[in-house]
Amino acid sequence: MTNTLPSELVRLTAVETALVLAVVGGPLLAKGVMVRRPWVVGVLHATGLERYAVALLQRQRRRYGDGPVMMRLPGREQAVLLSPDHVRRVLAETPEPFETDSSEKHATLTHFEPKGSLISRGTARAERRALNDRALESNRPIHSLAPQFHNIIAEEIAALLQMSSETGELGWGAFKDHWFRIARRCLFGDHAADDQALTDMLIRLRSAANWAFLHLKRRTLRARFLSRVAAYLHVPAPGTLAERLAAHATRRAAAEDQVGQWLFAFDAAGIATFRALAVLASTDRFMERARGDAVPEMPFLRASLLESVRLWPTTPAILRQSDRATDWNGNVMRKDTGVLIHTPFLHRDDERLPFAHRFAPDAWLDGEPTVWPLIPFSAGPGECPAKNLVLLLASNTLAAMLDRHRFALPPSRRIDPDQLPATLDQFSLVLRVRLAN
Ligand code: HEM
Repeated sequence: MTNTLPSELVRLTAVETALVLAVVGGPLLAKGVMVRRPWVVGVLHATGLERYAVALLQRQRRRYGDGPVMMRLPGREQAVLLSPDHVRRVLAETPEPFETDSSEKHATLTHFEPKGSLISRGTARAERRALNDRALESNRPIHSLAPQFHNIIAEEIAALLQMSSETGELGWGAFKDHWFRIARRCLFGDHAADDQALTDMLIRLRSAANWAFLHLKRRTLRARFLSRVAAYLHVPAPGTLAERLAAHATRRAAAEDQVGQWLFAFDAAGIATFRALAVLASTDRFMERARGDAVPEMPFLRASLLESVRLWPTTPAILRQSDRATDWNGNVMRKDTGVLIHTPFLHRDDERLPFAHRFAPDAWLDGEPTVWPLIPFSAGPGECPAKNLVLLLASNTLAAMLDRHRFALPPSRRIDPDQLPATLDQFSLVLRVRLAN
């Protein structure tokens, strides 16, 4: 029995709510919101369990139409969006009335970036977001530091591939180490290349953040992490993102907390790049297009990265929280309601999207698809300010890798680009590498 009074939004029953929490929320929490747990990702890959979340929300849509559907959780109301128009509305009306600073995001991100823009409100958020936009040059497809980034990538990928060609193998671990060297050099300069300790500190803070408010804050570690970042920003190396930050920083903009988010998010960008490489390696026709991509824009490689995050979104739950009561076709959604946009439901909706489970880079080549929301980087005023930077770094990295080397998947890990799995476990994926003849 559902409680669907005409003057109220659709409310799921206790059983339906439990199902959504278990099937949609369960895998997200189990694999780790802030840092992924490799064994859980391995289980999800092997079982394909994540596809049931999409199937469940499709069922809710068949039953309740456009929604949104409401769930009563301990202490608050939670809305789940089912219609593209509602998704567009909430993203466009961010940060007010739909704040990026939701309770659960606040509880997780305060573990390492208490003044991050995502968990700030009002004028503090505006100032912090503006600092991100300026330093990351969010509105420019090619960042003005692109030549410096290009050289860093060329050096790091050459070192990585020299090592891998000797063994004939490239796994996520080696790729990730060099990816983070690239990140630290682009951010702080060459002297930070070996500062693995900084990345490790953040991993420990993120592990605590996986438990949100259930884990005590590691305040001393957080203070050490943020002051180490602040030290890099204090004397910024020329030609780095730190220099750009310093040029626009204000006290309230809390530059080191913004960098906390950047270093955290570089992990997602590395995962997405490695997965894109794996899919490209699965088929000659994609590999050829990738190798022949036009420089410097590299539209095909950028589209491949966008496909990687469409198929396997690194931010599968975009969360908002209303700061006032909002009107939904005459129905009222209360103040402080949590709003969930489940991106796999949009990106893998095989009842609406003909290419839901296919690798379809062409979908992005004529600009962003607008008919249906494909939003791996979110959209609207809360869109990822590093979207263009990620596409630049990832496409340069892929181009450097494909230049003189050939990659293949081992037979046990073949990928069919026409029928892609709900989860792609990068942790256990080892690609074969050889120098081209
Ligand atoms: C594959 C890589 C990435 C993806 C898919 C991605 C996606 C996203 C998404 C979906 C959001 C919105 C989150 C929300 O509303 O809760 C976001 C926010 C953000 N991202 Fe990224 N991101 C990536 C990498 C990066 C990198 C490398 C950086 C920095 C160098 C970065 C900086 C940020 C910042 C600062 C925000 C907060 C924006 C705000 O407060 O409005 N992201 N990202």
